[in-house]
Amino acid sequence: MDHLFDPSKNMYYPPKEILKKANVKDYESLYKKSIEDREGYWAAEARKLEWYRKWDQVLDDSRKPFYKWFSGGKINIVHNALDRHQKNQTRNKLAIIWEGEPGDVRTFSYHALNREVTRFANVLKAMGARKGEVITIYMPQIPELVVAMLACAKIGAPHSVVYGGFSVEALAERIEDAQSRILITADGGFRRGKPTQLKKIANEAMQRSATIEVCIAVKRTGEECYMENDRDFWYHDLMGMPIANAGCCTEQTDSEDPLFILYTSGTTGKPKGLVHTHGGYAVYTATTYRDVFDIKPEDRWWCAADPGWITGHSYIVYAPLINGATIMMYEGAPNHPYPNRWWSMIEKYGINILYTSPTAIRGLMRFGASWADRHNLSSLRLLGSVGEPINPEAWKWYYEVIGKSRCPIMDTWWQTETGGFMITPLPVMPLKPGSAAKPFFGNEISIVDDHGKEVKQGDEGNLIIKNPWPGMARTILGDPDRYVEKYWEKYKEQGWYLAGDSARVDEDGYYWIIGRIDDVIKVSGYRLGSAEIESALVSHPAVSEAAAIGLPDELRGNIIHATVILRQNFTASPALAEELKVHVEKEIGPIAKPSFLEFADSLPKTRSGKIMRRVLRAKALGQDTGDLTTLEE
Ligand code: WTA
Repeated sequence: MDHLFDPSKNMYYPPKEILKKANVKDYESLYKKSIEDREGYWAAEARKLEWYRKWDQVLDDSRKPFYKWFSGGKINIVHNALDRHQKNQTRNKLAIIWEGEPGDVRTFSYHALNREVTRFANVLKAMGARKGEVITIYMPQIPELVVAMLACAKIGAPHSVVYGGFSVEALAERIEDAQSRILITADGGFRRGKPTQLKKIANEAMQRSATIEVCIAVKRTGEECYMENDRDFWYHDLMGMPIANAGCCTEQTDSEDPLFILYTSGTTGKPKGLVHTHGGYAVYTATTYRDVFDIKPEDRWWCAADPGWITGHSYIVYAPLINGATIMMYEGAPNHPYPNRWWSMIEKYGINILYTSPTAIRGLMRFGASWADRHNLSSLRLLGSVGEPINPEAWKWYYEVIGKSRCPIMDTWWQTETGGFMITPLPVMPLKPGSAAKPFFGNEISIVDDHGKEVKQGDEGNLIIKNPWPGMARTILGDPDRYVEKYWEKYKEQGWYLAGDSARVDEDGYYWIIGRIDDVIKVSGYRLGSAEIESALVSHPAVSEAAAIGLPDELRGNIIHATVILRQNFTASPALAEELKVHVEKEIGPIAKPSFLEFADSLPKTRSGKIMRRVLRAKALGQDTGDLTTLEE
């Protein structure tokens, strides 16, 4: 199908079938309209959902940058994700198809999922859960994770999901920050043929931060684990109690009531708990999903992320359920037991849309096309990518080998903070490999210099967003000043949102994301902060100071390089280096484990004491360290 590719422009055009059936046919004119009347555009989208009470005001900007959307309105996202589907034919449709790593399969219709969520909501209430309190969830990728999230939202208790790949300190810190009294977890999950030990990690975390009064654990692996009397309960025991059968009405939350807290890494050691809401978030995720992934009632959708990250919150759980889609979920590793695991599941379940990360694509590409070629992938219609810039080579492999040159790739740029897609292609747009294409409806995005002046076309600069949007995070839990400082301070006069990424725009108005401009490191698409890794290192008795940086890596995007200064009486050795790497893994999780660790006598710092990571990076890459005039040591 070479006619879809125009080599002179390096552009890939959408197939006729896609053009004919696309939910949005004309990007340019709708974009123009959405910018001219932003509030009108979002009000029309909001009307596609069910509200208990209509909003008084679409956008309230009286307390910038603390914007409010649909204020005065009453809505619960779970009402839109589950309750309203019980009244129509979606009720009997599959909501979730789940496959465990060992090969066990479970499915839930919308009816069954609603029943399970309602039962668990009753259990939570019986265990003392109250509206407005943050409930922490720390689980493997099993259906109960989705049930737990929805049950919390149903009773108006914001959830804080901590990624199941995180470890003791990361979990303890997040429980502590949210002052959670209830923790929902599991004995473990399966990863690469082995059971993980989540409950063991949770036990340690509960010791470090003592706020948890009730811990509910799902039995998944059956491995032995310690359960504390009067604090720890098995999910299945509680779900079997008569109390679970009570009717539970969905709480009529306000538009601006918090739906969840999601912690993400920033420039300081302490992770930020970003707050998302019931109203604006529901509208934003539902709309972006419908338009970008062109979702149709008969579609089977697979977002192969972990629900513990924003991608999973928005596009495994909430947006697909609101749109009545069938969600595919898989528990384990993509290459277990063989590198065709994903492709065999696409064939087996007839998946229509696959959304994943460049790291996963590069990882599977390594094993060669023959693993994919064994399977019939003709059910696929669209593909997606998220989390880091996709290199053109991986893009082409994905397009040709997986999509057979007929499935457009939606390279979506967004963040935990934005709630949903901000820069993205639509299925009808011509594509350029490596570019996230254009701003989504309602968004005005620009590339500017440090003074706020728009850079010349093609030049690199700071990516900023000029307007509020319904899916934006409202604040950082317990730290509104930090929210203002981090995102809104730099371009305060203009009122622009600073994304923290650098990017450029080409002559066709296509955006090219280059990477982070702060100390956030993206490892395999996962977001980590230099300072988090540094504070984990410093928590080891041998370490007095540490600096962590990201270095480019072909497979994972970035890998972590740490420089460590030892305390007196400790001697550098390869064994100690290994011990320190393992210490980081134990404190934060396997993704944070440094690939390189070197010892030094001092760190390059500015006169004000800031570590000059630029110098460390140049040194590690064997490059010129540049201007060192501000260097203190
Ligand atoms: C990066 C993930 C290039 C970016 C949804 C952003 C991307 C950070 C893309 C947010 C993309 C995300 N192309 N870079 N399509 N999508 N990023 O909060 O640096 O985990 O700022 O949200 O990921 O990461 P987060």
